[in-house]
Amino acid sequence: MALIEKINAKGLNYWDFKNVTASGIHKISAYPATMVPDMQYELIKLIKSEDPSIKNILDPFHGSGTTLVEGEKNDLFPMGIDINPLANLITKVKLQGVNKKYAKTANKRIERLLLDNDFYFYKHDFYNIEKWYRKDFILTFSKIRCAIQKEKYRYMRQYYWVCLINILKKYSNTRSSTFKLHIKEQRAIAAMRNNIITDFLKSINTYFEYLPEYNRSKVVNLQIGKSEKILLQMGNDTVDLIITSPPYGDNSTTVTYGQYSMLPIYWIDRKDMGNFDESLIDNYSSIDSNSLGGVGKRNKQNYQSRCLSEYLESISQDKRKKVENFVIDYLEVMKQMGRVLKKNKRIVLTLGERRVDNKIVPLSDITQEYFEDVGFELEASITRNIPMKRMPRRVSKVRNCSVESMNQEYVLILRKKEEI
Ligand SMILES: C[S@@+](CC[C@H](N)C(=O)[O-])C[C@H]1O[C@@H](n2cnc3c(N)ncnc32)[C@H](O)[C@@H]1O
Repeated sequence: MALIEKINAKGLNYWDFKNVTASGIHKISAYPATMVPDMQYELIKLIKSEDPSIKNILDPFHGSGTTLVEGEKNDLFPMGIDINPLANLITKVKLQGVNKKYAKTANKRIERLLLDNDFYFYKHDFYNIEKWYRKDFILTFSKIRCAIQKEKYRYMRQYYWVCLINILKKYSNTRSSTFKLHIKEQRAIAAMRNNIITDFLKSINTYFEYLPEYNRSKVVNLQIGKSEKILLQMGNDTVDLIITSPPYGDNSTTVTYGQYSMLPIYWIDRKDMGNFDESLIDNYSSIDSNSLGGVGKRNKQNYQSRCLSEYLESISQDKRKKVENFVIDYLEVMKQMGRVLKKNKRIVLTLGERRVDNKIVPLSDITQEYFEDVGFELEASITRNIPMKRMPRRVSKVRNCSVESMNQEYVLILRKKEEI
């Protein structure tokens, strides 16, 4: 049976994965706009059944690593890139795992330190910390921070930092209704109860069981930075399968992955994070402004997207530049993805479409048109309804009215032709 038939045989609403939520390893830390793990697993399995020769999988916007983890479960070697150092750390921990026997002892040691009133720790600080955390919470988090720093193995410290992320979010002064940093009402801040240590201990005693067993010789191939640059270091025709869900617009006006991540980043010990350009964490917006469609000069494009030109004509002049810049950056990554993929192999893209000026940006048409122009064929496409709780339902404002968007997303499966 061809891939398209296998996909269709699953039934119309199968790919919605309604009522399926992240569980086990994927709950270790929240992240905006995550993929449905079961869907990624199923897609990879289907593709492997079509082409058992594939050995590796690349996700150039790996986020919290859903696809790479599911790729590894399907016996593929995972490779990933993300501009966000926090996404890198979460994914790294999910892939590298922990030594479970050792974790039990280390967890007990941390617990003893945290329950010891005489444990000496120093107070952590960063710019505006008291705006984002209550003074008593700063002390509790500082105690946890020093207890984590006492752990001798880096992979264990990394595990602890990742377990702390959700708790750092929960006890911050930011609203949980948005990914942006917006201060809560004073009343709500004052009403928060300090269960930080209990929450943290629960987290570290739960999640290690879901992680793979640590093996020091295992290579975890993840890089932090702009995909459009990092992919340039990879050779032509080297990757067996690319599966990703790119951002669907510039971060600042769609999903602010960077702002969402910045407070935990400022708490985590820098030496336990991967290598990255420090300017990425200069301020609360620097990851977002460096992401696709962000600030910076762009080279003149050789490729002209007809779908994009037609779309730009349909929206007001002042809205065009932002969309155009985003699509230029986006297509640059698509170009590199197409280059590094081996012939006859597949790219699977899950795409959301936002509205600008109340008109849907046709990202899936732009993508399909591009890949067909450069020697790919569309093998299958799936339209799926997105469970609303994973995204704010209303994401942008048009003339002061909220606009609904992102109720559906599209999965495109593209195959690189043999004869390019
Ligand atoms: C839709 S999310 C991926 C979510 C992921 N599939 C998951 O399940 O967690 C898109 C990711 O693209 C990253 N990103 C944005 N611009 C980037 C760029 N130029 N290079 C690399 N990553 C980028 C963001 O940091 C974000 O993590």
